[in-house]
Amino acid sequence: MKLRDTPTRYGLISRLLHWGIAALLAWQLAGMIVKIVVGRAPITAFWVGSHVSIGSLLLVLILMRAIWALRERKQRPPYESGPSGLFAKVGHLALYALVLVVPSLALMRLIGGERPISVFGIHLRAARERPVEWITAPADLLHGALAWTLFVLILGHIAMAVLHRYWWQDDTLARMAGKSKD
Ligand code: HEM
Ligand code: HEM
Repeated sequence: MKLRDTPTRYGLISRLLHWGIAALLAWQLAGMIVKIVVGRAPITAFWVGSHVSIGSLLLVLILMRAIWALRERKQRPPYESGPSGLFAKVGHLALYALVLVVPSLALMRLIGGERPISVFGIHLRAARERPVEWITAPADLLHGALAWTLFVLILGHIAMAVLHRYWWQDDTLARMAGKSKD
């Protein structure tokens, strides 16, 4: 498979980023669902214990993906003209926006907060006396709400992929998941 995109399908780099980010987002959201459903338990501690590190990794991957999408924009599968293409474009842009804003706000809160900071076990900063509230407040207000909004949007996105495959029976899913013809 070619590394770069073509007008008929996504290449290896776009697919690795798309499916890698999808898997890590599923991990993040499932961890929080386990926390709500199971409550305090070893599995929750393990799962939620990875939330900051995986969320930080996600932000790096999403920035790489946005740069890659800009680079490939002229040669990847184009949106249809008309309302359905516009709907898909707005949906994808909303996914990008949320997936950038959700971890960014949380990282701001981490930096502005008083707790010590460690990412993937690497200690980055000791605890400090008091939080800087204007840096932590946006995430207190929005991190959870926007993350659940992202979850709903992802469910809609998956439903559209399934409809394309089984209702309209076109090659939309194959562009991101199927075997490459070239
Ligand atoms: C795209 C990446 C991320 C997703 C999808 C995500 C998702 C979520 C969700 C669904 C919740 C539960 C909210 C609730 O209890 O209703 C949550 C909570 C939390 N997340 Fe994230 N998160 C991400 C990145 C991060 C990052 C990078 C950090 C830290 C730097 C972080 C720190 C927290 C904290 C401290 C909470 C508990 C407090 C709160 O609800 O705001 N998250 N996250
Ligand atoms: C089971 C899960 C998923 C399925 C079946 C799926 C399916 C697809 C398909 C078929 C396309 C190509 C659409 C087209 O060419 O018009 C696509 C593109 C896209 N998907 Fe997903 N997707 C999934 C998860 C996700 C998640 C979790 C995100 C969240 C960020 C996401 C964000 C995007 C974006 C932004 C695009 C546009 C292409 C790009 O810029 O990478 N997808 N997806």
